[in-house]
Amino acid sequence: MEIVHLENISYKYPTSKEAVLKNISLSLEAGKVYALIGENGGGKSTLCSLIRGFIPHVFKGDLEGKAVVFEKDIVKTSLGEFADMIGYVAQNPFTQITGTTESVYEEVGYGLESLGKKREEILETIDQVLEIFHIEDLAEKKPNELSGGQKQKVALASVYAMNPDLFIIDEPTSQLDPVGTNEIFSIVSQLKEFGKTVLLVENKIELVAQYADEIFLVKDGKIIDHGTPTDLLTKKSTAENGSFLPQFTMLAWKLHEEGFPIDVYPVLQEEAVEMVSKLRMQGNGGDRFGIHRSE
Ligand SMILES: Nc1ncnc2c1ncn2[C@@H]1O[C@H](COP(=O)(O)OP(=O)(O)O)[C@@H](O)[C@H]1O
Ligand SMILES: [Mg+2]
Repeated sequence: MEIVHLENISYKYPTSKEAVLKNISLSLEAGKVYALIGENGGGKSTLCSLIRGFIPHVFKGDLEGKAVVFEKDIVKTSLGEFADMIGYVAQNPFTQITGTTESVYEEVGYGLESLGKKREEILETIDQVLEIFHIEDLAEKKPNELSGGQKQKVALASVYAMNPDLFIIDEPTSQLDPVGTNEIFSIVSQLKEFGKTVLLVENKIELVAQYADEIFLVKDGKIIDHGTPTDLLTKKSTAENGSFLPQFTMLAWKLHEEGFPIDVYPVLQEEAVEMVSKLRMQGNGGDRFGIHRSE
């Protein structure tokens, strides 16, 4: 089922000189994880803000084209109508925190309260969510006093608590260490198991390769390519257009340049292991690498 449908969307902020989204069309299906990748300033955050409806309801400017989310035209639908369906985590965790709550506990319950949920249900949900995000120890802390990484976790936790169908998560791990980053991605994969749809902006490309079903490459306000991680991340043009590629893929290119016969380019670690063991079996990998399987 299609839940987001954009057709020839162009958008210019009131203060920007030219359009920052240019003739964008895309379609998101329920239950999949989508990643937006590409260089800074390309328009990824603007696209997220449009799908949430902040454009045109908060940011004015010039919007052209058709944008339909959950079968509603976003231009004609108020932000509140999407509140329980779309969870949005802004790129900057400092702006995401409400600033009106006294504790992380309250912060996580804030959205639920605004949806008018019953008190017992709210308290039960908060406890569950704090546990899922491993932030029980932050419960009594003041949201404004958290570190950037803690704020990012709390921001996503607050949205998760509201149980929306579509999650729009803009660079959720930018302030997190590798442990925190992996925790966030395990939550993303759990969301997928629950049948949620996720639109994720993320530049940690190994993780995008592992978790995304489909990737959109954004540059200069356009979607210049899209496809599965294998489609996109094994192409030189993706790197030339401002995205990182997985280390495993770059290793394979390098090996190819050195004369190794590479037929399948890996994007995931297990695929890279397969590539190396294939080279080894062909007698031109293991010996030159000095790789010998210990059995
Ligand atoms: N509120 C705003 N007002 C005017 N211009 C903006 C605003 N937000 C972003 N822009 C501009 O829009 C372009 C796209 O930005 P953005 O969507 O943040 O890109 P990305 O998330 O890919 O880094 C940039 O040129 C940026 O300077
Ligand atoms: Mg951005």
